[in-house]
Amino acid sequence: MSCAGDSQSGGASLSGAVHPASRSSRFTHLRFRVPDLPSPADLNRARPPTAPLVLGIETSCDETAAAVVGRMADGAPVILSNVVLSQVEEHAAFGGVVPEIAARAHVEAIDGIVRAALVDAGVSLRDLSVVAATLGPGLVGGLIVGAMTGKALAAGAGLAFVGVNHLEGHALTPRLTDAVAYPYLLLLVSGGHTQIVLVKGLGAYERWGTTIDDALGEAFDKTAKLLGLPVPGGPNVERRAAMGDPRRFALPRPMRGEARLDFSFSGLKTAVRQAATAASPLSEQDVADLCASFQAAAADSLADRIGRALARFRAAYPDLADPVLAVAGGVAANRAIRSALDREAQAAGVRLVAPPLLLCTDNGAMIAYAGLERFEAGRVDGLDAPVRSRWPLDEAATPLIGFGRRGAKA
Ligand code: KG4
Ligand code: ZN
Repeated sequence: MSCAGDSQSGGASLSGAVHPASRSSRFTHLRFRVPDLPSPADLNRARPPTAPLVLGIETSCDETAAAVVGRMADGAPVILSNVVLSQVEEHAAFGGVVPEIAARAHVEAIDGIVRAALVDAGVSLRDLSVVAATLGPGLVGGLIVGAMTGKALAAGAGLAFVGVNHLEGHALTPRLTDAVAYPYLLLLVSGGHTQIVLVKGLGAYERWGTTIDDALGEAFDKTAKLLGLPVPGGPNVERRAAMGDPRRFALPRPMRGEARLDFSFSGLKTAVRQAATAASPLSEQDVADLCASFQAAAADSLADRIGRALARFRAAYPDLADPVLAVAGGVAANRAIRSALDREAQAAGVRLVAPPLLLCTDNGAMIAYAGLERFEAGRVDGLDAPVRSRWPLDEAATPLIGFGRRGAKA
């Protein structure tokens, strides 16, 4: 794959002719700014952000994303732009992300996405101090596109380069959105990850639990597929579940009562398949009841794990004035999951912080913000920093069952 050659045009084309990607309707429809935050123009007028300004680039999976993040005069972080292009449509026919298609789509889009992030922010490359790009974990082809683009821009414009762990981007998002102080507990629940992480400080993470098989989002997606629901699986399962009876099918609550804080969802998915086979042919109501029963089992299992993790967190830090459980990842959008987490947090006397969904799912702002913290701590990288398909946040954590097969989830 010639990602480097294609993406190195990024610097030159930013001020040149309009890139084809920015002319397509797909591109303009999927551009968004983060809601509930003042527009970049308002912010610029009110209080100009101070240096350093960071451009963040994210291409580890099926979103091409770029954002500009800085700090206000009072030190509060500010998102000046946040542009995300989803590749969902490109992969829909294949029932999952196809690495080669993803890489090619990143190559086609990256110049336009980066330029849009700079234009939305009202800044040029000269105004930046840092370019941050995701170096892993993720699909290597896509990672190379983002990394080479970031490095080329940094080299061309004489800026610092910071390579960011995608999981660190998720882990630090509550500091970007809610100024959460270290230490805090993080639950990351996405299509690729299901992890409980103690965030002690920048670069200091303890993984307390992870999935030994499927990620929770993956279990939602596979359940949707076996019930014949369209992608994206999670939201469609939730929609059907709203019309179903969560008690109709007796499904297992994986890992409930286990002292270790790990997760398992593949047995639950198998139980759904068996129940569906036994009940087939499935009526609309059967599908709704299966969705509701699956969702209830997943939420119960998650609540049990989190309840235990919160008890351990409170015991480890009994004197914290404002103990926080933060959630990140697409599954955090699910209302049944969210209320299960709310209940557990309240019972433990812990504040639940759930950033806006557009910042919970993959985006460039989280990469820019992680780059900002790293730059301020003097942790910059050379242009020879490699991409890593597998890159655990907690390098000291023991790999679990499935390691070597599960890649980025480990
Ligand atoms: O964080 P994310 O956007 O991407 C990564 O996986 O990195 O998460 C996507 C996952 C998918 O598996 C999707 O089905 C799931 O989050 N998801 C949901 C919901 N919305 C998204 N799962 C359950 N309920 C939802 N409402
Ligand atoms: Zn992610």
